[in-house]
Amino acid sequence: MKKTICTVLTLALLLWLAFALVSCGEKKEGIDYLVLVNKENKLPDDWEQKLEVEIVKNSFGDDVEVEKEACGAYMKLKEALAAENVYIDLDSARRSVAEQQKIWDDFTVKYGEDYTKRYVAVPGYSEHHTGLALDLYLNIDGNDVYENEDMVEYPEIWDKIHEKLAEYGFVLRYLEGKESVTGYGYEPWHIRYVGDAKTAKEITEKGITLEEFLNKLPVTDVTPPADDEAEQETEETEETDETGDGQNPVMNFIGPYASGRARALVEADGMKDAKITIEWSNSAFELRKWEIKGEFDAETLSVTYDDALVTDISYGEDGETETKEVVSETDKGSIIFSDETLSFIWNDELIYTENMEFTWSFTPEE
Ligand code: DAL
Ligand code: ZN
Repeated sequence: MKKTICTVLTLALLLWLAFALVSCGEKKEGIDYLVLVNKENKLPDDWEQKLEVEIVKNSFGDDVEVEKEACGAYMKLKEALAAENVYIDLDSARRSVAEQQKIWDDFTVKYGEDYTKRYVAVPGYSEHHTGLALDLYLNIDGNDVYENEDMVEYPEIWDKIHEKLAEYGFVLRYLEGKESVTGYGYEPWHIRYVGDAKTAKEITEKGITLEEFLNKLPVTDVTPPADDEAEQETEETEETDETGDGQNPVMNFIGPYASGRARALVEADGMKDAKITIEWSNSAFELRKWEIKGEFDAETLSVTYDDALVTDISYGEDGETETKEVVSETDKGSIIFSDETLSFIWNDELIYTENMEFTWSFTPEE
């Protein structure tokens, strides 16, 4: 009996020891400096547990929280710029969801809804939640310049700042001309720490967004062609069209698509335009229909629109159309195709205001 008790106790002790060892050895995972937080990807749930921040006091005396390593890199960047008489400060870096909501509300009052959607992320989907995104402001001749509309007046100063970013592990996050990829307008002030200078240089030199670097969206070929190739390309373009084969480039994507309860039909419309019809229905008796037409941008594989016709259609029990109500004739949004998967991502203003999922991914219907 004694022997049995002894064996049970020894086993229990061994089990406890093994458990204790596993817990002690548990490695706290570090920060993923390439984390993607955008209109489609929210802040990872476990982010807060990993995040360590440092506080920077700005010229207004505000405390700005920045992820620890990004903070060190920012201080070096600031110093290097000051040595060239370019003075930057930190308007905002890490923000809580509640802080983002306040910015959203303030911007809506100050600039209106359209501007807000173009420049402010929906709370929970802001890269600022990571502590790796930093909004800068300028100090010019001793004066702080911090309002968006004032800051954009100094492109030469921003150029000098942007030139230095990669060396310190930062990239410019919302590039000019890449709105259809990032979902946001150009923000010269919003920089993003990506962990090291090598990665930042690669992204910057290629002129791509973080989405493209991570292959989350189609990467357009940004390598400038050699001079003679470029000339040849121009000649071909003049003679034929963007594809060089006389076809509307949207031809590669025509066909039916589906996404949950939504179905879409992509058609080519003339030489360059696409026509996309999307129907979303909750029941057999009603559906919402979007009729989208727009020029297909062969470089970004996207269609941006601001005049989609949206109608609500209800059917009677016999299946005949009963009512048709126009919801919007000026609905805005974008559709971004992927070369690799032949699928597309749809961002639409109306979906957003209706509090439905903001971004939908459509795949070809079998
Ligand atoms: N200005 C960026 C998009 C944000 O609000 O996160
Ligand atoms: Zn920002």
